[in-house]
Amino acid sequence: MNKDIKSILLSEEKIAELTDALAKQINRDYADKELLFVIILKGSVVFAADLLRRLTVNVKIDFMQASSYGTSSVSSGSVKIKKDIENDAAGKNVLIVEDIVDSGNTLFKLKKLFEERNAASVKICTLLSKPERRETDVVCEYVGAEIPDEFVVGYGLDYNEQYRNLPYIGVLKPEVYGG
Ligand code: IMP
Ligand code: MG
Repeated sequence: MNKDIKSILLSEEKIAELTDALAKQINRDYADKELLFVIILKGSVVFAADLLRRLTVNVKIDFMQASSYGTSSVSSGSVKIKKDIENDAAGKNVLIVEDIVDSGNTLFKLKKLFEERNAASVKICTLLSKPERRETDVVCEYVGAEIPDEFVVGYGLDYNEQYRNLPYIGVLKPEVYGG
């Protein structure tokens, strides 16, 4: 285990199980539809790549990057689009793929944006959710697991751009982030 990790919250095996279950639901719900799979950079890339390989539906992928203003550890509620998708979302069944929903501010804004662009449908798939931290009432249709309010890294999730390469999701030692 990495020296900065206090404990493993989700093992590789557990993540694979959760991803299998999410893919099953998505394959069922979009069986006769075309999907625009919008991957939110950067944290979602590992999860999205694993989920994508389990999809049997007709799917196109695209990428988007959003950033919250303010400090890195506290979400400010105002969200900026740093990179937008290349596809026209109008009339498409958009599935936003996220690593973790915390305050929900990012996804609240992105969901609204795709609705304004006249997508046929807009749903959210997130591997993780921290319900205790929610500041908006954004609905996430597909959630891998709800987790407690602890800062986690690995499997795409970072702290200061580090630890994204860990194959599991772990809780960071508080001394690493000065907590
Ligand atoms: P929200 O807008 O507050 O929901 O912010 C969601 C974003 O915050 C995620 O896409 C992550 O980049 C980041 N984030 C929230 N919690 C964690 C965590 O525990 N570890 C790593 N990144 C996190
Ligand atoms: Mg991040």
